[in-house]
Amino acid sequence: MAKKAAEERVKELRDAIRHHEERYYIDNDPEISDEEYDRLLHELEKLEADSPDLIATDSPTQRVAGRPVEGFVTVEHVTQMLSLDNVYDEGELKAFDERVRKGAGIGDTPVAYVAEMKIDGLSIALTYEDRRLVRGATRGDGVRGEEVTANVRTIRAVPLALGGGPRGRVEVRGEVYLPRASFERMNREREDAGEPPFANPRNAAAGTMRNLDPSLVSRRGLAAFTYQLVANREAAPRSHSETLTAMRKWGLPVEAHWRRCEGIDAVVAFCKEWADRRQTLDFDTDGVVVKVDDLALRERLGATAKFPRWATAFKFPAQQATTVLKSIAVNVGRTGAVTPFALLEPVRLAGSTISMATLHNAEDVARKDLRDGDRVLIEKGGDVIPKVVKAILPHPAGSEPWRMPSSCPECGSTLRRDEEEVVWRCLNESCPAKLQRGLEHFASRSAMNIEGLGESLIEQLIQQELVRNFADIYKLTASRLENLVVAPREPRSERARPRKLGKVGVNVVDQIERSKQNDLSRLIYALGIRHVGEKAAATLARYFRTMERVMEAPAEALQSVPEIGPVVAASVRAFADEPRNRQLIVRLTKAGVNMISRAPEPSHDPGPLAGKVFVLTGTLAAMSREEATEALERLGARVAGSVSKKTSYVVAGSDAGSKLEKARQLGVETLDEDAFLKLIIKN
Ligand code: IVH
Repeated sequence: MAKKAAEERVKELRDAIRHHEERYYIDNDPEISDEEYDRLLHELEKLEADSPDLIATDSPTQRVAGRPVEGFVTVEHVTQMLSLDNVYDEGELKAFDERVRKGAGIGDTPVAYVAEMKIDGLSIALTYEDRRLVRGATRGDGVRGEEVTANVRTIRAVPLALGGGPRGRVEVRGEVYLPRASFERMNREREDAGEPPFANPRNAAAGTMRNLDPSLVSRRGLAAFTYQLVANREAAPRSHSETLTAMRKWGLPVEAHWRRCEGIDAVVAFCKEWADRRQTLDFDTDGVVVKVDDLALRERLGATAKFPRWATAFKFPAQQATTVLKSIAVNVGRTGAVTPFALLEPVRLAGSTISMATLHNAEDVARKDLRDGDRVLIEKGGDVIPKVVKAILPHPAGSEPWRMPSSCPECGSTLRRDEEEVVWRCLNESCPAKLQRGLEHFASRSAMNIEGLGESLIEQLIQQELVRNFADIYKLTASRLENLVVAPREPRSERARPRKLGKVGVNVVDQIERSKQNDLSRLIYALGIRHVGEKAAATLARYFRTMERVMEAPAEALQSVPEIGPVVAASVRAFADEPRNRQLIVRLTKAGVNMISRAPEPSHDPGPLAGKVFVLTGTLAAMSREEATEALERLGARVAGSVSKKTSYVVAGSDAGSKLEKARQLGVETLDEDAFLKLIIKN
């Protein structure tokens, strides 16, 4: 094909593909079959392969690019990503409206709101530069999040290029979520692979976004909705409803059921309507977000430290059902904690079939006096696993109050309870249930990431006494696993008979072998030391560099590391003092598991402003006081609360008061905002 013609066809195909992506992923109303869509995509792929100079980063063929990343980088948001305050009933909604009207000083005049679905996913910030997607970041703590651009690009609902809107830099915020159908498919696949299912679509979406391999993310079927535009004033529309309409026009995914409501009564009606209708949506929603429509009024209302005053989230009432509590069973966790849970007569609730519910702890069961055979009221709140609210009296004749078993259901050891804890624990170090949960954690994705070594395989390995501790995993050979006979966990059909693991076993051994090269931080986390989460594990690895040094570090040395507190330090020490654990590390080392950190060393550079003491006073226009403090600390300076002779500089923003006065009296050098910014930038 002539160059010019190829160029034109490429453009035509890209436009057509984006159009069909919008119809499919945003409007839920496809115009062509999947096959026809694939054909367009393949044609484009072929043209681009023939003339690589025609490839552009925003081409729909370029959603999954590159290899898995090593880790996520932390990035700062242009403005803080705030959270929302919640209201739970009509009265609270009306109180919100009253606060808005009072804040606006408009008496009884009704306020126009926009009511939107509250999408149960994880918030995301998308940056477009000259209409091209350049960055995707998670919310994180609201100020800083993780840069997840490669993963965001795989989401077909997210346009790689905007079909309109302001040029320059624009940030669009919204929610990444997993449609119910994708969620169910994903959990089926996980169960088949012997991996634990995700509790709900939100956890699944969050877990997926944190995956380092974009090609896996692209297979999960994530979707997204956007609901906020952070742009400079000239570029932005005047109301939220206009913003949503414009965003949709530019090709952004806007959830279609939003409504502009004149006054709070219309909002109340919207919330009532959707409390029932929400089951018809193909994503989970736990409420309605109510927002003031007029953007100028929003600005006048402002925000508290956490929430905007111009918006609130109306939470739908929890959905409830009644069923029979067949029995109360207990589960032994990784740390030996024994917790009761309810086995229920299966019942439909909030779109799924429920046959189990959490019961927190023994005290909770006693307080509610739940007994085997009770008819119970269960509920599913905005999230997660359903809980048992109460027994519907009377109890069945002859029933007795439930009692926590005195011995571990898995190994028979006597259960104990610490004085200050409500949790009962099995203290037997070799309890098979603890080993089971410990190994599941060890092999899990965020720990040693051994794909295929899931719940059911681990169960077989323990049962057949092939694995007695973490190090034994590394003794498994391909021929041993290939020939391992596994029984189906739940025979689903007549044909489900015990079978050899075959090729799956070989793959697992490959994965085990690969895991030896993991960074030390993964290993520390995988060991399941109490209170040591992913972040603490990464910090320990980064600062101590080798496993040996972590194991030898006195508690004070552990605690001197930033973000490692006394509880974590004591727990690491206790772990390292236990001879069995020391032996485990020796075995893992002999097996060839990497014991060294590859993370960049923490900088010991004291910083250009080391030794300088700053005092901040008044208001800075460019940054908050926290941001200024952080910038100074990053450069090695200390920030003090009051002015003394030791103060090196006083930074005076607008409306500076007595501190500035004191600085003058003591002859301490003062910096205005400009001089301060220059100092920071220069360093
Ligand atoms: S607006 C400053 N709109 O809910 C207001 N948030 O519980 C920012 N969410 O952090 C949020 N659907 O992640 C807004 N239609 C919607 C939403 C929504 C879901 C999330 C968002 C927020 C959280 C607060």
